[in-house]
Amino acid sequence: MSISNRESPDPAAVQTPADLGSWSRPGVSLAVLGSPVKHSLSPQMHNAALAEMANRSGRFRNWRYFKFEVNPADLADALHVFHERRFLGINLTVPHKVEALDFVDEIDPRARELGAINTLVWSEEGYHGYNTDGYGLEQAVRQELSLEFADKRIFLLGAGGASRAAAVQILRGGCRHLHIGNRTAPRLNALLEILEGLGFGDRVSGFSIDEPPGEASDADLIVNATSLGLAADDPLPSPLDRYSADSAVYDMIYNPRETALLRTASERGQRTAHGLSMLVWQGARALEIWSGTAVPVEAMRAAAEAAL
Ligand code: ATR
Repeated sequence: MSISNRESPDPAAVQTPADLGSWSRPGVSLAVLGSPVKHSLSPQMHNAALAEMANRSGRFRNWRYFKFEVNPADLADALHVFHERRFLGINLTVPHKVEALDFVDEIDPRARELGAINTLVWSEEGYHGYNTDGYGLEQAVRQELSLEFADKRIFLLGAGGASRAAAVQILRGGCRHLHIGNRTAPRLNALLEILEGLGFGDRVSGFSIDEPPGEASDADLIVNATSLGLAADDPLPSPLDRYSADSAVYDMIYNPRETALLRTASERGQRTAHGLSMLVWQGARALEIWSGTAVPVEAMRAAAEAAL
């Protein structure tokens, strides 16, 4: 491989797969692929961690993390070129996490259950796919809300891609019961069928998101995985007064930091946390997989907070 003397590409700039034609930076390259990817906090988060890791070990001095705008139609070709260019690690964000299952060489069995991959690791034959989002949620709930999934009654709002990964992680974590609420029934039923197929049928049930069942008064944790809350005037995803005032609330949304759900829950005296911690922990796990070493999570959190 030729070693170029030109300046390394700017990790803050949005690159496209076309930029890979002349990609010849020495050292280890990592990247997040998304569309739109402009607002991704991952480059700041990972490069902050890598700077700290480089201070401890010369091995990381030449590691950099970039962001690439990749259209869904171009994902297969793009991954091929990233592999040729020997990008050690790839993160996938919206809308690539499910599609990419078809374009990798091997999929971690746990990631296959979660139905999506967000972390790829280079190998000679192709990329190996992992999912660190489930771990990210479990760690975030543990760290921010001091809560373990085991033996808890948990309410999960939403039945999309993010919700599926969360549901499997919560069930694998040994929850007592998982109640999944969604606006439309077909999507909810499709998710319930998948979870039944994985053998979780006796610990999971569904409800219409506006009509939480009576067990809501016994809830330990509510997790919002719907997109409601992204807009400032969005209503609550589910009527909070039907849930136990002792339950904790985790909202996967982190921008805005305080959604109507979190504000209302705080007013009721409930413990709350927003989704930045999940972003940080999924990123920390990905960097652990790539580097094979412990990573400075606090540096990642500080960089993500600052970038936000
Ligand atoms: P993601 O991959 O982030 O999970 P998604 O697959 O588009 O995104 O899922 C979005 C979730 O937010 C779904 O559960 C969706 O409910 P429907 O399946 O009924 O569409 C939920 N959602 C989006 N807008 C909503 C709204 N206005 N009210 C209630 N739920 C909403």
